[in-house]
Amino acid sequence: MPDLWGQYRCPTGQGGRIVAESMNRAHEPLTLWGLGHVKVEPDWVVLDVGCGGGKTVNRLAHLVPNGKVIGLDYSPDMVTYSKEFNKKLIAQNCIEIVEGSVEKTGFPDGFFDLVTAFETYYFWSNLTEALTEIKRVLKPNGQLLLVNEMVKDGKYEVEHAKLIKDTYVRLIPLKELRKAMLSVGFGSVQAFMKAESPWNTILAQKQ
Ligand SMILES: C[S@@+](CC[C@H](N)C(=O)[O-])C[C@H]1O[C@@H](n2cnc3c(N)ncnc32)[C@H](O)[C@@H]1O
Repeated sequence: MPDLWGQYRCPTGQGGRIVAESMNRAHEPLTLWGLGHVKVEPDWVVLDVGCGGGKTVNRLAHLVPNGKVIGLDYSPDMVTYSKEFNKKLIAQNCIEIVEGSVEKTGFPDGFFDLVTAFETYYFWSNLTEALTEIKRVLKPNGQLLLVNEMVKDGKYEVEHAKLIKDTYVRLIPLKELRKAMLSVGFGSVQAFMKAESPWNTILAQKQ
């Protein structure tokens, strides 16, 4: 049996496909809750960083019928999986899936209306670099939506120490995430917690 817990940071090979299929299913409630914090316009161009199995890209594409969604992941196997999952909407030019890292996306300045990041910041090698890059590719007033099912609040990381170790997750307190966003120049930064749950979302706007 492959080590599936270790797969979440860069899903690869057969184990990666199992994890991608599972994330596409299991992350749906979290994704819907997170998306409830942003009003997506039908003509927006959206980037989903760390797109994994590609289900969220697909969901976003239905929210922007006159726009486009690009999914980005640094795992070549997730790019392949996500392309297969979205082949119909890729053929219709509504979706693109590209291999790349959030710290260096390669997109032009001011290209996106919205950047989304579900369950992925935990694995970024350099948060400040990633946030600076996201801000660069956003249009003025463009928004960043970060959505996470884990939180560092002094309690969660103690109760879930084994899961955190096994998945190689690096948790950052919400206060520090907010501070990092403000320090790279995002304007309004709002943090939301789901009642009686560790789920959290940060919505930040480029000035
Ligand atoms: C736990 S999965 C979440 C996938 C998807 N967003 C979801 O909610 O189902 C994390 C994903 O982020 C990707 N990832 C991690 N660090 C990344 C980085 N620095 N740049 C691009 N992708 C990254 C991984 O390859 C993986 O597919």
